[in-house]
Amino acid sequence: MRRPLIAGNWKMNTTVEEAASLATAIAGGLQAGYAVDTVLCPPFISLYRVSETIRGTALKLGAQNMYFKDSGAFTGEISPLMLKSICQYVILGHSERRQIFGETDQLVNEKVRAAVAAGIIPIFCVGETLQENESGKTGEILTRQVSEGLKGVPSGKEVVIAYEPIWAIGTGRAADGTQAGQTIGLIRGVAAGILGQQAAGTARILYGGSVTAANIAEFVGEHQIDGALVGGASLKAGEFTDIVKQTASLKAKP
Ligand code: 13P
Repeated sequence: MRRPLIAGNWKMNTTVEEAASLATAIAGGLQAGYAVDTVLCPPFISLYRVSETIRGTALKLGAQNMYFKDSGAFTGEISPLMLKSICQYVILGHSERRQIFGETDQLVNEKVRAAVAAGIIPIFCVGETLQENESGKTGEILTRQVSEGLKGVPSGKEVVIAYEPIWAIGTGRAADGTQAGQTIGLIRGVAAGILGQQAAGTARILYGGSVTAANIAEFVGEHQIDGALVGGASLKAGEFTDIVKQTASLKAKP
């Protein structure tokens, strides 16, 4: 059994005050307790404040990026050493990092290895563009991203993978649940070749891309899909907590 996971990627949204209020509202909405690992990923500047806000709750904290060195002359970067005392998770290789900031498979791999070495669980993102999807290259692209990104990750280290088709991010055009389930099955197969059958079988693989309270059931209803990486809908406390609650009840069913 894989414990479901819902992560909210707040991207470059919320001031420190807004982040604290949003975290408070989410914590309030989930007070009853649900069998879902729930991770908030605010901007760097709000991490510490949100860590204080959610102290004593079941909520977990994640960063949205990280450099792979522990310290040094890397202006503007944040290290595993800085994150590890307050974050349990870190999103790595998000398509926005890859596309806008030029992150390569190799760089993402360095980051994934640094995160696991520091004891931070990476939420390692992969996904194809619309063009790659339409030209039938999805399998090839994902195989490359997963193999390159996870290369050299020692066995026994936890990794979360997020499948986020780029054409589904922020477009309101989510993938089809069944199709996403099949693609995630493929990703699990590729991961098995790198991490080993057992580690890939227990790794949580999430779907991301226009997830809302209205469509979450379609995704977490799939056996292969262990939860979601939520963007826009994670900025609304009521909707985000609804997504967590639906996931808890759907995944609790045999
Ligand atoms: P949206 O949910 O806004 O489509 O964003 C998805 C995403 O990129 C999460 O990392």
